[in-house]
Amino acid sequence: MSVRVAVIGLGYWGPNLVRNLAACDAVELVAACDRDAARRQSIARAYPGVATPSDAAAVFANPTIDAVVIATPTDSHYALAKAALEAGKHVWVEKPMTSSVEHAEDLVALADARGLTLMVDHTFVYHPAVTKIGDVIASGELGDVYYYDSVRINLGLFQPDVSVVWDLASHDVSIMEHVIPQTAVRVQATGARHAGASVESMAYLTIHYDGGAIGHCHVNWLAPTKVRLVMIGGSRKMVIYDDNDVTEKVRIYDKGVDVSSVEGAYAARVQYRTGDMYAPALARTEALASETAHFAACIREGATPKTDGHTGLRVVQILAAAERSIAEGGRAIDLPVTRPSTAARTG
Ligand SMILES: NC(=O)c1ccc[n+]([C@@H]2O[C@H](COP(=O)([O-])OP(=O)(O)OC[C@H]3O[C@@H](n4cnc5c(N)ncnc54)[C@H](O)[C@@H]3O)[C@@H](O)[C@H]2O)c1
Repeated sequence: MSVRVAVIGLGYWGPNLVRNLAACDAVELVAACDRDAARRQSIARAYPGVATPSDAAAVFANPTIDAVVIATPTDSHYALAKAALEAGKHVWVEKPMTSSVEHAEDLVALADARGLTLMVDHTFVYHPAVTKIGDVIASGELGDVYYYDSVRINLGLFQPDVSVVWDLASHDVSIMEHVIPQTAVRVQATGARHAGASVESMAYLTIHYDGGAIGHCHVNWLAPTKVRLVMIGGSRKMVIYDDNDVTEKVRIYDKGVDVSSVEGAYAARVQYRTGDMYAPALARTEALASETAHFAACIREGATPKTDGHTGLRVVQILAAAERSIAEGGRAIDLPVTRPSTAARTG
């Protein structure tokens, strides 16, 4: 039987979710809700069978709706997700899950207590390029991960409620959490507010891992061009992931150094390795299409989503630490020691 779903929030991102949910065999899109009449009308025209209420309360009160997808501004995620869980609905909430650690913890506890699926839309985790990079790292092909270094910049979209850290760095943090097989322990960040923004419009985040890896991302809403470039260095191989590259998004380089001590000498010998490069074939699936099918399957089977509430909470912990570091002039902020459990949910 299909999972009956409603979407709340039909602004920039919501219509992408509506399109993928409507196309998913395992889902029946029942309602699409927004306060804005023009946005409701545009969805009503494209999807005539879908109800378009203006008030989220109508969605929560509808007993035929199994799950709610929340695509409203970040500051409103907590109240809407809480109301949905309290009404017994499974929840898909946009990234970042909430704008505070306490709110994220609350949602995780509520979903766990009620045995409901709570999934956070960290879309890149479902992107074929990131899936491939995760597989390559897990197979040992890269060796030990030394670093993750990314540039994620473009002009706009300025968010009124959260800084560029919450908006754009949430993508890199979720990718790092997914592909780096080490635990993040400490965060340092600097940032700046420009063009009258009340929140940071550009920032540099550095994340230190317990196995020695370092993660860095540069995010900026005020760049003249769109760059989405990630470099990952390992002890054996290195990866470049250019999301703007249509044909070769991921390239894997057999490059590196071998350092060996020379017996009887203090000097170390460094040998540079420059082997082949290959661009692996990637699945052509849209990330959101895989993600909607995964959401429905998790609800039906009681399985834990790849990006469950615990994953979302960890991302929020890292972003909150980065925000605090910025406020304290770049001071290093230790992350909570215990990594949230990804154990299967109860119930
Ligand atoms: N996963 C991704 O790659 C990705 C990409 C873009 C945006 N997002 C996330 O999606 C969310 C929405 O971003 P956006 O850019 O679409 O915002 P937006 O401002 O364009 O749209 C938000 C919509 O929500 C509606 N809304 C707000 N509160 C409501 C309420 N209580 N009831 C009904 N409707 C309400 C607004 O009227 C608006 O139409 C954010 O959390 C953002 O971080 C995720």
